[in-house]
This record gives sequence, C-alpha cells and structure tokens, in this order.
Amino acid sequence: MSHQSTYNPQTGVEKWVDERLPIVRLGYDSFVDFPTPKNLNYWYTFGGILAICLMVQIVSGVVLAMHYTAHVDYAFLSVEHIMRDVNYGWLMRYTHANGASMFFIAVYAHIARGFYYGSYKAPREILWILGVVIFLLMMATAFMGYVLPWGQMSFWGATVITSLFSAIPVIGDPIKTLLWGGFSVDNPTLNRFYALHYLLPFLIAGAVILHIWALHVPGNNNPSGVDVKDVKKDTLPFHPYYTVKDGFAIVVFLLLFAAFVFYMPNALGHPDNYIEADPLVTPAHIVPEWYFLPFYAILRAIDFNFLFIDSKLGGVIAMFGSILIWFVVPWLDRSKVRSMRYRPIAKQFFWALMVAFFGLGWLGAQPAEGIYVVFAKILTLYYFAYFLVILPVLSVTEKPLPLPKSIADAVLSDKAKKGKAKSPAPITAGGAQPAPAE
Ligand code: HEM
Repeated sequence: MSHQSTYNPQTGVEKWVDERLPIVRLGYDSFVDFPTPKNLNYWYTFGGILAICLMVQIVSGVVLAMHYTAHVDYAFLSVEHIMRDVNYGWLMRYTHANGASMFFIAVYAHIARGFYYGSYKAPREILWILGVVIFLLMMATAFMGYVLPWGQMSFWGATVITSLFSAIPVIGDPIKTLLWGGFSVDNPTLNRFYALHYLLPFLIAGAVILHIWALHVPGNNNPSGVDVKDVKKDTLPFHPYYTVKDGFAIVVFLLLFAAFVFYMPNALGHPDNYIEADPLVTPAHIVPEWYFLPFYAILRAIDFNFLFIDSKLGGVIAMFGSILIWFVVPWLDRSKVRSMRYRPIAKQFFWALMVAFFGLGWLGAQPAEGIYVVFAKILTLYYFAYFLVILPVLSVTEKPLPLPKSIADAVLSDKAKKGKAKSPAPITAGGAQPAPAE
C-alpha cells in the first residue's frame, strides 16, 4: 500500500546516498516499515519462499554451468562428471534438480492461495497477470532444463512436447523446426535450450521485481479479503512481524528441501533419465516431470476431433488454454466478495477444483488408455467449467456470508470463536458481524 516514507537516514553517508539514489529508503519502505494486514496466515509465506527458490536455482545453476557441456556427445557424461568428480558437484546437481520440484510445490501453493482468497481481483489484476507470466516462464525454464542431462526422458520428452507445435496450422511446422534447429531433436536443440535455460531465470527475476512492485501499490490482500480501513488497527509493520513469520516458514521449507536432497534425491525423477539419450530406442512410457502431469493429462484427454479441429490440435489448445485462461480470471469472476471464506458455494467448487487438479496429476502418469482417459475427460471438463461457467454464474447468483467490518474485526471474531479472546465484549460492542468459520 502506498504510504508516507518513514525512513530517516541517521549518518552523513546515509543522507548522502539517500539524496542521490534512495535505494535504502525503497528497501526500508518495502520490507521494514511496510504496513501489512495483521491477519496473514502461512499461505502468505510462499511468496518469500518462492524468492528463495529462485535464488537457490540461479546460484546452483550457475555453478553447474561451470562444469556442464552442452553437446550431445558430452552432455550426459558431463553430468556424470559433475556427480562423481566435481567437489560437491552432487550437492549442486541434486539441489538444482530437487530445487525445481520445490519451486513448483511452492508456486502451486501460492497460486491456489490466490484463487482461494480472490487475490486476483481488483485492484490486483496486474499483479496476478505478472504471476501467470512468471508461471509460464517457470514452465518453459523447467522443460528446457530437463533436456540438458540428455537422458532418455530428456530426449523423448523434448521430442513429444516440441512436436506438439506441428499441430498448429501454417506456422506450426516452422516453429518446430526453429525450436529444433533442424529436422529432429539434436545438437542444435540442446544448444538453444541451454542458452534459453540460462536466460529465462533472469527474465523471471525481472518479472518478480515487477510482481512485487505491483503488490506494493495496493498492498497485500488477506484471508478475509476485506480492504485495510484503518492502518493502525488493521496492519502491522512488515518487520519484525512478517520477516520472522516468513523466516520461520522458509526454514521449515528448507528442511523439507534438504530431506529430498540428502535422503531421496532421485525420488521425484525418472530412472530412465540415467540412460543416455538414444534416438533409436523409445521408452515404454514417456512421462514429463510430476509438475507438468495435470497439463499433460489435459493434453491427452482430447483424443477426438471436434468440428474442424483435429484431436492433436485440440489437445494442444486445451493444454495451453488451461493456463492461459488464468489471465482472464479477474474478469470471469465478478463477485464483489474476494475471499472464499465468505462464499460458501464457490468454496465447495474451489475444493472440487483442487481434487480435479490432483486427479489430473495422477492420471497424467497413467497410460493414456481405457478408464484413465475417461476420467481425464471428466476432470478436464470440470476444470474448464469451473472457470468458464461456475465462477461467472456464482459471481451473480451466490449470496455471500456477511463480511467482517474490518480486518481487525475479522481477527477478533476469529479469536472469540477459538475461545482465545479474554472477553468477546469488544467484538459485539464494535458492532462487527461475527465472521463465519472457514
Ligand atoms: C518466482 C515466482 C514468484 C515469486 C518470487 C512471487 C513472489 C510473491 C511475493 C513475495 C508475494 C507477497 C507475499 C505473498 O503473498 O506470498 C506475492 C504475492 C502474490 N503473488 Fe506471487 N510470486 C511468484 C509467482 C506467482 C504466480 C505464478 C502467481 C499467479 C499465477 C502469483 C500471484 C500472486 C498474487 C495474486 C499475490 C498477492 C496475494 C495477496 O496479496 O493475497 N505469484 N508473490
């Protein structure tokens, strides 16, 4: 939330810098004295966790790049060399590979939080759109990164996904050839993927800066979805309250991360990627990394032609559409009430969406046949219905529960419910509506 700067340079040097480049003031106003709603829960710690993930990926990635060779004859061996010969190379590689998974765990939690609390609604549409751009960049980066070790899944995953582009009429084939740098996935493909895999994280970092800028104009939304009315009563300074809360969440998250790196570093990967790429041997099942599985299931659910669109193009449209649709969610959901806490019907459909998304993830790892495809079709239908029908219709038909008058009231009535408040008197005396349970 835009607020008066409270930064007060103490020393001469601080004043001198502040008059020329007020960067310390910017940091202070953004991360020290930034008024933040007092009711943010742990779902709000994922933004900070994501920032840490990005840094970990960039640092470990730069070190890996010092020892990696982007050539089809050496890529696989250079990764083995990193694992066996380079000092702490195994640590860098396992951190980077599992870091990608941790990054996606955090981003899915972050996005789901946004859907639940209606954080995409006005005035945070641009913040949300930047988030979707970041997510697309993350997907492209992870996809290209997975190709670099040049294992069987790297090669065949790259072949399957890049071939999808040929489904697009007219421009599809030229795009595919451009991506390949030739007429199949080969050395030029590996080289351009490496170049882009190194570049995109910095674009993500740029988009994250804009994302946080766009966050700091209206300030955080919060679990009640109610705007800040009284800065004194409804907010706390970011430091120390949220630096400590975020810090704690980051430590817990890093413990989980470490558990993967040190105790089960290959649990999330596919064993076939320890076999060097062989264009002449196709693996029995080509599966992407776990974080792409829901979208992969949507792609494969469309196995029928529809009007003039054949099944391949239909699958590609559905797969990309399932993410692109997020761009317009702020305009599909017109409800005045942000948080699902006060939208009893929308909330049920939200949880059903979560079930559908996890279900699609599971189906993405199954062979595309029989009952699996039937379920994938049902869940894909629900996925799109949620955004295109359910949210727009509920926006006008659903009767929301009474909203708390302010964030402070929401906090107090929550406490009263849990029997924590010493006396519930001030709540009723304040005239606030008791907030319904979540
Ligand atoms: C590298 C990836 C990302 C980073 C580092 C990042 C960072 C942050 C940070 C630090 C915050 C404030 C703290 C918090 O609310 O958790 C935030 C808020 C937010 N982010 Fe992200 N974000 C990322 C990706 C995304 C994505 C992919 C989306 C949506 C598709 C998104 C949507 C939002 C929204 C809507 C908010 C405001 C939440 C609210 O105030 O209720 N972000 N982000």
